[in-house]
Amino acid sequence: MKHLLSMTDLAPEEIIEILDMAEDLKEKRVRGKVTDLLKNKSLAMIFEKSSTRTRVSFEVAMSDLGGHSIYLNSRDIQIGRGETVSDTAEVLSRYVAGITARVNSHKTVEDLAAHSQVPVINALSDLEHPCQILADFLTIREYKNRLKGLKFAWIGDGNNVCNSLILGCALVGMEIAVACPEGYEPMPEIVTKGRELGGEITITNDPQEAARDADVLYTDVWVSMGDEEERDKRLSDLADYQINSELVAVAKHNVIVMHCLPAHRGEEISAEVMEGPHSVVFDQAENRLHAQKALILKLMA
Ligand code: CP
Ligand code: NVA
Repeated sequence: MKHLLSMTDLAPEEIIEILDMAEDLKEKRVRGKVTDLLKNKSLAMIFEKSSTRTRVSFEVAMSDLGGHSIYLNSRDIQIGRGETVSDTAEVLSRYVAGITARVNSHKTVEDLAAHSQVPVINALSDLEHPCQILADFLTIREYKNRLKGLKFAWIGDGNNVCNSLILGCALVGMEIAVACPEGYEPMPEIVTKGRELGGEITITNDPQEAARDADVLYTDVWVSMGDEEERDKRLSDLADYQINSELVAVAKHNVIVMHCLPAHRGEEISAEVMEGPHSVVFDQAENRLHAQKALILKLMA
């Protein structure tokens, strides 16, 4: 049995296996070909935070595969009244074939995994967002036909998505440059881990340096869920780290612009770039479905 809590829970060949499966499942869905490989299986989905893409793509993935998903708002289940995470994992394991959880603290997904008899999938924590990265890599492969050897640039807050991308890029052999203001750098432990995995990782305060000759430009919100109280400070500290036409101009001529969404036009990305010819953000969002379908098949089938 395998959990997906961090990008590093997947070996490079497993990432490629999932992307290949996702490509195949995407093509089958377009042709209307039905697969019911998860028939009679259920997925419990615990959400401590809001979600549009993650929740809907997991639910549709389960439904497409003939299975069933159960959305559990953490305020509604007994966790909200003090039942332990470990007891919750023990109990859910008796009913379902997998548990996915979006949590405030990464420790919660670790505790779930430690006490679960079924695979646990991190659907976003304060530390990582591995499901997002699988969809991102699927999208990059569709546009660039490869991952290895590309230059990836992250612009903005060195947050949970950035952490998983650093590790993911190291695993698949993509160079990554991260540009963020002082105090917003990704966690040193993540950067060290990425380098141990062989990652070519640059951390800089200069967005132009990171974006220069990049194949992929990527950003995320400046105010992540849980950071709302710091909103004003973040908007001012990150003001020079917007992906806009000026930044796109220093990247490769065929650069793709990515955003995990939700986006705030005029903050981390200009409306012009978000709607412009380089943007692949909605293909990226769609690929959450195909990548997660492959993931749950690998872990739960
Ligand atoms: N990108 C992403 O995880 O979106 P949601 O918060 O809508 O799930
Ligand atoms: N960094 C963002 C990602 C949302 C999908 C957050 O944690 O809120």
